[in-house]
Amino acid sequence: MIDHFAQRLAAWQTLHGRHDLPWQHKGAYATWISEIMLQQTQVQVVIPYFQKFMQDFPTVNDLAKSSLDSVLSHWAGLGYYSRARNLHKAANIVVNQYNGDIPKDLNSLIQLPGIGRSTAGAILSLGFGIRGVIQDGNVRRVLSRLFCIDGDLSKADAQKTLWKLADELTPQSGNDARTHTQAMMDLGSLICRRNSPACPRCPFSDDCLALQRGEVSQFPKPKRVKQRPDETWVVLQVINEHNETLLMQRPMSGIWGGLFTPPIGSSLSEIGKRLEIRDVLDANYQGELTHAFSHFKVRLEHYRLKIHSNDILSLGEWHLLSVFQKGVPAPIQKLLLNKDVL
Ligand code: ADE
Repeated sequence: MIDHFAQRLAAWQTLHGRHDLPWQHKGAYATWISEIMLQQTQVQVVIPYFQKFMQDFPTVNDLAKSSLDSVLSHWAGLGYYSRARNLHKAANIVVNQYNGDIPKDLNSLIQLPGIGRSTAGAILSLGFGIRGVIQDGNVRRVLSRLFCIDGDLSKADAQKTLWKLADELTPQSGNDARTHTQAMMDLGSLICRRNSPACPRCPFSDDCLALQRGEVSQFPKPKRVKQRPDETWVVLQVINEHNETLLMQRPMSGIWGGLFTPPIGSSLSEIGKRLEIRDVLDANYQGELTHAFSHFKVRLEHYRLKIHSNDILSLGEWHLLSVFQKGVPAPIQKLLLNKDVL
């Protein structure tokens, strides 16, 4: 084990870590919201979303009593919408089962939808200032280099090693809990970066096994990149006699769950059959864009069709886009806004 790891890390954090992030020292609720947003999204992207979210849902009670649609609309652009659905569900559990008080123990926290062991550790330490152990991507990278942990870090044996190390390196007393967790994150994102790590500035450069072996760039071992198949989705913007656009709510499970989009299908004729639009092939091509999900890429082709609302199966809702408030996936918004509909 590295001598005086926590003390040296804390000293480094005090001088060189991040102290002005908007969710710092704002309590458990702010920590929870920020941690969920930061799971798949970078700090600079998250900041404005976090601020707007906290302004509109300042407490767990406000979040629980708001509609899922309004939570999803705050999430539009962040992606991975199951995070927002889980937050909303978990907020209701906190209100109903815990009287609105976010639980202060690991076991209760990890029962809540969307909260895993590392997020729970962050809420305990950063939010409540009590002992909590984290192991996010930054921490995994730091530990894999410091101790030359090889192989696929998501596998059970590596996970066990990493959690054990993270636990041993976390101070027992809760006094330094906030600093320690923030420091682990900061070391990973400011110094022990995936590309071009700043080893000469690292407080553990004399201790790092990977550095001693000249193998920093080989840790963590890169995950095998999966082939991302390409798909084409046709997005048919149907506009009625009042200049309103047909929007349909997507099923709660799956891509863009619960958000609103125009009809999407594999081709114009497929959508035409489904919605019983006779003249679907009269739709005009408007443009396209490519959007990458985590496992695949889609080409979104935008078509527009003017129609009378009687000439289509009424499976959705008609809305003026300029005043529509609910969540629309960001790439669809971009596609629709690109042209002069609004
Ligand atoms: N990434 C995940 N959690 C974070 C936090 N609290 N601060 C900065 N980056 C983070």
